[in-house]
Amino acid sequence: MAIQKVGIVGFGQMGSGIAQVCAMAGFDVLAREIDQKFIDNGLKRVDGSLARVVKSGKMTEDVAKAARDRIHGTTSLTAFADRDLVIEAVIEVIDAKREVFGELDRVCPATTIFASNTSSLPIIEIAVATKRADRFAGLHFFNPPVVMQLVEIVRALTTSEATVTALREFVTRLGHQPVVCKDTPGFIVNRLMVPIMLEAVRALEQGVATVEDIDKAVKLGLRHPMGPFELIDYTGVDINYHVANVFFEEFKDPKWAPPALLKRMYLAGHLGVKSGKGFYEYDEQGKRKT
Ligand code: CAA
Repeated sequence: MAIQKVGIVGFGQMGSGIAQVCAMAGFDVLAREIDQKFIDNGLKRVDGSLARVVKSGKMTEDVAKAARDRIHGTTSLTAFADRDLVIEAVIEVIDAKREVFGELDRVCPATTIFASNTSSLPIIEIAVATKRADRFAGLHFFNPPVVMQLVEIVRALTTSEATVTALREFVTRLGHQPVVCKDTPGFIVNRLMVPIMLEAVRALEQGVATVEDIDKAVKLGLRHPMGPFELIDYTGVDINYHVANVFFEEFKDPKWAPPALLKRMYLAGHLGVKSGKGFYEYDEQGKRKT
């Protein structure tokens, strides 16, 4: 059965971006948040992003409006009973994800495929909270999902071949590019990217160079679109701190331990763009001040 109706649980930065990509590709989207104000915030983010797509000439206003009309919000998971695929993008806390899927498992028919957008947690640990571990996989999008073409399809030990095939087709219909990988810490991209981020913070701690010069070196020397500090601020100091903790727990290798500065920035609430201060400072619109 081809996927037509998509459910998104968690309508934050990633959830709203994923919802938008699905709606732009013609899917009917139902997004769930715990409070109406988070639904309103997510829809505002979608409106802003669609306006950018229209402004850059990649979509007409009418087509953007039709995409926007395909996204509906709800505060209840019971409304997900007619979904063919549910993608979860809630907080990176294993118990929160397991609870969501436990409830979805009772609500959705056996045919519904479940996917988690987790960037660090073991897919299998979430999958076994359901009775459909064969129809469960990781579906890892990158920020911002509208621009970033890659989606990692993460195959847990229990994921069936039919589920991987259905998700490959789905990602292709989104106009994105799938890669398939095993359920290992960091999958492909974060396994390679996180060490760069953590080493950049350690280099800063050791006084190797300034934030600005480390970012400049990586952008001009490696042609990365953002330097490591710009990227940590963009994705969130809290996310990077949590991801490093998960990897350290898994590998027990100091290479993955979050550097002291990252932990202190997290504790201080210096989370990057979303809090107005991280390695750089930002205005209300998220534009860099320094
Ligand atoms: N919605 C719609 N369009 C957007 C957008 C958004 N949120 N953000 C950027 N764009 C579009 C812009 O409109 C622009 O389009 P045109 O070229 O057609 O005009 C284009 O993208 C480029 O944007 P900008 O000119 O504003 O700025 P930029 O060239 O600096 O690009 C960027 C911004 C795309 C974010 C770029 O800096 C980039 O690719 N950065 C790296 C992002 C990255 O590495 N993401 C992965 C993070 S890791 C992750 O997500 C996984 C995890 O597990 C934590």
